[in-house]
Amino acid sequence: MPDLTKPRDVVELLLTAQIYNQSETLTENDLPANIRKHYWNREKKQVNRPISVRIEDAAELYGIEDVMQAVGSLPFIEFEKFGAELKLTVFDLTKSWFAKQEGAIDRIRANPALASFYENDGVDVSYAEATLKAQPKERDREYLASLAAEIAASDEDVDLLALVHLVAPEDVKQRIDKLVLTRDQEDKIEKIVQAIGHREYLREIGLCEIGKMLFIGLPGTGKTSIARALSEKLNSPLVEVKLSMITSQYLGETAKNIDKVFELAKKLSPCILFIDEFDFIAKTRVSDEHAAVKRAVNTLLKAIDEISLIDDGVLLIAATNHPNLLDRAAWRRFDEIVEFPLPDARMRKDILDIILSKVEGDFDSQEISLLADGFTGSDLRMVVREAVLHALTEARMAITQPDLTDAVDEFSNRVGLMMKEYTPT
Ligand SMILES: Nc1ncnc2c1ncn2[C@@H]1O[C@H](COP(=O)(O)OP(=O)(O)OP(=O)(O)O)[C@@H](O)[C@H]1O
Ligand SMILES: [Mg+2]
Repeated sequence: MPDLTKPRDVVELLLTAQIYNQSETLTENDLPANIRKHYWNREKKQVNRPISVRIEDAAELYGIEDVMQAVGSLPFIEFEKFGAELKLTVFDLTKSWFAKQEGAIDRIRANPALASFYENDGVDVSYAEATLKAQPKERDREYLASLAAEIAASDEDVDLLALVHLVAPEDVKQRIDKLVLTRDQEDKIEKIVQAIGHREYLREIGLCEIGKMLFIGLPGTGKTSIARALSEKLNSPLVEVKLSMITSQYLGETAKNIDKVFELAKKLSPCILFIDEFDFIAKTRVSDEHAAVKRAVNTLLKAIDEISLIDDGVLLIAATNHPNLLDRAAWRRFDEIVEFPLPDARMRKDILDIILSKVEGDFDSQEISLLADGFTGSDLRMVVREAVLHALTEARMAITQPDLTDAVDEFSNRVGLMMKEYTPT
């Protein structure tokens, strides 16, 4: 049986290309992500007009082996340039044919370029709704790569990219709904989401002191995970930097690096600047009163003052395991302090259920959550990993309750080892 979705896909591409080519008001964000990514021009950071559809484009985009065979019988498609390029002959015929295909309406609703056309053509779709549904270019790794290439090309910033870790939202594996959050965390995240959705309004009413969050909590409680999940949810590229990485033994360099990182974030806007190990600089300050250290701290505080979610589109998230090391000057620069407490029994159960969701076996996560008092989310991951690996050593895919309880015991021993002091004999 011929696969009827292939011709529909190719026709969607041809229609989208034609509509995009003819309407200068449409932007890259009006294209479906797969088409935009395929036609992305890295140097120009855009999708060049006109989009032309060659056989190899259709083949690559939709995994079609024989494009001619798939669409050759459609009366409104012709092959030009010695058969290499696909063209629409009768647009009217094409648009009616496409709208009648199975699943086409859903495609139009997720394709703003098509929706902009069809909503004026009597089809029950809306361009405004389609733009809400479509994924913006900021989500694409191609987009981030373009910006990174541009920054790398401006000579003096060459090593800048070595200081930071850039992540495109589409590459983030962690989903926010797969994290177990406290009520307070949920509320604060929702506030930020709203602030980002209403940047213009907040600017108009002059409320600019928004968008700097400090995450505090023990290792393994989900600080990095939330920052990444937010990047995915908000379609904002993530600029991750560990403060220890940009602190140089040549103290003058540290201040320079800090400025560079903040400049980079502004260039990548809209983005999330995630500064991990935020206490690192405070630590050096305690141990060393050298003037250059003070300068570095002041540079950091000033950089924080001068970056804004509302004006620059940069959401700043700093994270620390040692909030007590931060002085008031650092502390007061954040408008939201988000605590990451040790999960309580109910949260532990929810975390376990998420981690175990694809694991086969007969077990009771409730009981494990009660045994695992004091465990962090990351500890619970290790427990499950131990249980799964142990089962594998016995040639089992399904795990049992003893696999899990043993793993909890083993993990508790491990904590004991960590606390033990080794004195040389
Ligand atoms: N509340 C949670 N819900 C679900 N998973 C969690 C939670 N907390 C931690 N985890 C899991 O534990 C792992 C480690 O978490 P993460 O790296 O985010 O911790 P962290 O707070 O950044 O630690 P560190 O301070 O060491 O950097 C992640 O894989 C994450 O999925
Ligand atoms: Mg972390």
